[in-house]
Amino acid sequence: MDNVSLVRQMSIADLFDVDSYSHPFSGFNYREAAPPAEITSFQRQVAKRHFGVHGYFTKQVWSVVQAYINAFTQPGDVILDPFGGSGVTAIEALMLGRRAIHVDLNPLSQFIVQTLLTPVDFKSLEQQFNAVMQAFAVERPRSDEDIQRILAHYDYPRGIRLPRNADVETIEQLFTPKQLAELALLKHLIGQCQETAVRQHLLLMFSGLLNKINRTYHASAGRSEGRGDSAMFRYYRYRIAHSSPELEITTVFQSRFKKVLAAKMELLPITGVGASAAQSILQGSATDLYPIRDESVDYIYTDPPYGSKIPYLDLSIMWNTWLGLHVSKDNRAEEAIEGGENKKTKADYFRILAASIEEMYRVLKYDCWLSFVFAHSDPSYWHMIVVTAEKAGFEYVSVTRQNNGQHSFKKRQNPFSVLSGQLILNFRKVHNPKRRKSYTGNIDAQTVIMATTEAVIERHNGATVEQINDALVIQGLELDMLNVLSQHYDDLTPLLRKHFDCGCDGRWYLRGDKPQIGQKGSVSIVSKTPISWG
Ligand SMILES: C[S@@+](CC[C@H](N)C(=O)[O-])C[C@H]1O[C@@H](n2cnc3c(N)ncnc32)[C@H](O)[C@@H]1O
Repeated sequence: MDNVSLVRQMSIADLFDVDSYSHPFSGFNYREAAPPAEITSFQRQVAKRHFGVHGYFTKQVWSVVQAYINAFTQPGDVILDPFGGSGVTAIEALMLGRRAIHVDLNPLSQFIVQTLLTPVDFKSLEQQFNAVMQAFAVERPRSDEDIQRILAHYDYPRGIRLPRNADVETIEQLFTPKQLAELALLKHLIGQCQETAVRQHLLLMFSGLLNKINRTYHASAGRSEGRGDSAMFRYYRYRIAHSSPELEITTVFQSRFKKVLAAKMELLPITGVGASAAQSILQGSATDLYPIRDESVDYIYTDPPYGSKIPYLDLSIMWNTWLGLHVSKDNRAEEAIEGGENKKTKADYFRILAASIEEMYRVLKYDCWLSFVFAHSDPSYWHMIVVTAEKAGFEYVSVTRQNNGQHSFKKRQNPFSVLSGQLILNFRKVHNPKRRKSYTGNIDAQTVIMATTEAVIERHNGATVEQINDALVIQGLELDMLNVLSQHYDDLTPLLRKHFDCGCDGRWYLRGDKPQIGQKGSVSIVSKTPISWG
């Protein structure tokens, strides 16, 4: 891996001067700051700056991120997210009067966030949008000959291979000839726009509509045909839909325009005239935060990839290619995932995540906090994170369960492996970190697993796999037994199937206690059968 060229992707010149601001308020006690309790009600769609602008594979809930920023920082502080994704952390930090450093390996991420934060003249944007729409109406393909003519004249992704598990081989096969010609024409017309910021915003709308104008687009059952997503966001794979409605591209473009405009209106306090937001939106690896100086960051909130679930770079190839954004070999080498086209191992994933945790430690100031969002059903992943963080010098302080409002569709597709919850681990960088008490070897792991599961089921009158998983991870953290637990299971499902019953409501019950069909929603436990511990 060529580390030097990786380092050069992020430039110190792109980083604002972290020392040029002073805190407007003094007296904030970082040491005494406390993480918020679980946030149970949230309105994702209220924030137009995140909802509907551009799809991304996973998004943190903006109000949860706000609560953490408020708990751990004061206005003026520098907040870093080294796995920034769609930019929820950076944008919320700026909205709350903090400064933000956003880092992500995926050029698509940098493009989305940078565009959202770039000031633009609304009048020019509207004029140019209308001009593009008019030119499109004149030139749009109306026959097969038109389609061939446009495809011969205008640029579109040619011969770029998709990941091996895609249903088709190349990007252009993701589109019908008509879709391809219309997209090529629209992209060409946007390219004619002379004003850089306006062109960038029109491209954001174009990129956003790609989600709906392709053959993997799945309309949501029971909703209007425009309410759906491409397979990359639903199934994390380029899966051609059995019957995909061909949406009218100008309607989707119009809707993108409205949504981007609504987002920009909300963002006016940090992008409008006189706004003094300080932000650095960088493309690069969390494993080498080269431009960021030692001890210069006041808080880190981050949500890295959870192992093998989502190969971000593979799945973003359609967007990155249309936008002309380059993903280097080094980017791929540094991506924190398992599997994917590079067939990365669990050891690769651990190495990359460990290097990023060490970097987070380096750039964070003393007495400041790191909130690390994670979800996994295998305790060995949790063990790796906590041990690496402690080795880097962090003090583990607490863990909070946090529902992430996971799309119920994904949950229905894969009820056992999709975790709708996540845990937020809170660490502190202090001079003399306290260590958790170490596992003494006299607690039996099987007993802990069974007793914890049983207790959660009893407490909730039937428990979801997430509730059980979270309770086991929390217990494993407290007793320093994550490593020991990982020798007993890496996936809870077989264990649950062996010792417990799954009810018609998808929850787990003590043997013989599960509700029958028809009892959904009104669960009452009649009998309590003793558990066999075999
Ligand atoms: C779970 S997502 C973050 C989502 C984000 N919290 C949000 O609200 O949109 C993880 C991100 O990590 C990025 N990533 C993977 N490996 C990386 C690395 N080595 N350095 C920086 N970013 C990386 C992926 O591109 C992806 O955007």
